[in-house]
Amino acid sequence: SSHIPVITIDGPTASGKGTVAQLVATELGFHYLDSGALYRLTALSALYRGIALDDEQALAKSVESLNCGFKDGDIFLDRENVTMSIRAEEVGNTASKIAALPAVRKALVDLQLRFREAPGLIADGRDMGTVIFPDAELKVFLTASAEARAERRYKQLIDKGFSANMQDLLKDLNERDARDANRAVAPLKPAEGAYLLDTSDLTVNQAVEKVLGWYAVTKQAV
Ligand code: CDP
Ligand code: CDP
Repeated sequence: SSHIPVITIDGPTASGKGTVAQLVATELGFHYLDSGALYRLTALSALYRGIALDDEQALAKSVESLNCGFKDGDIFLDRENVTMSIRAEEVGNTASKIAALPAVRKALVDLQLRFREAPGLIADGRDMGTVIFPDAELKVFLTASAEARAERRYKQLIDKGFSANMQDLLKDLNERDARDANRAVAPLKPAEGAYLLDTSDLTVNQAVEKVLGWYAVTKQAV
């Protein structure tokens, strides 16, 4: 399936990957992979099943029987609609911890590759351009200041009806950044040839336009 075009968008938490990727996907009529959701689903399932969060083998094994579904923007685990519950901070923090375990990452590779379907895919996460889709047509690395990202996450959580505290969010965010960037396997870093985009002072639409513009140029070059 290597002829099917892929756009990767990687970056730290709340840099706007998901928002931008979904809008670009809609614009291009592409499929969308929210790879973070897979780590969140694995985390939620481990919390449900009572699997110890440091039991690497059991966690990796649990991926084999991970019964998840994606439909019209909704996400399911064992037929339960978990679209909202996987966004809880506890689930995000657990996801970030188990994402540091090599066997867990390995167990999730095939599942991610299966999202590559015609006419194209836009995938967001931490290692989409570096590890999962190294042959992507276009690779983007989004950044934004920690303050801008904490503020965005705060607004999102409040809008979804969760409670949130700026101080805690900023602390979590810095911890998660450090864990993502410093882990041995698939650390967060721009892929070779990635376009860097700091969205601190950009609107969502400005970021989307940038990505679409880069993709148009990339396509012309092929
Ligand atoms: O929304 P946020 O950016 O905080 O997280 P996410 O994209 O939903 O991913 C949840 C966690 O999974 C992140 O904190 C990462 O540690 C991990 N992750 C990863 O390691 N690799 C990916 N490709 C995607 C997510
Ligand atoms: O996927 P990731 O964790 O990188 O971020 P997200 O879930 O897309 O959340 C980013 C939030 O910041 C959303 O509420 C966006 O509306 C907002 N935002 C953005 O994504 N990009 C900007 N340039 C400005 C705001």
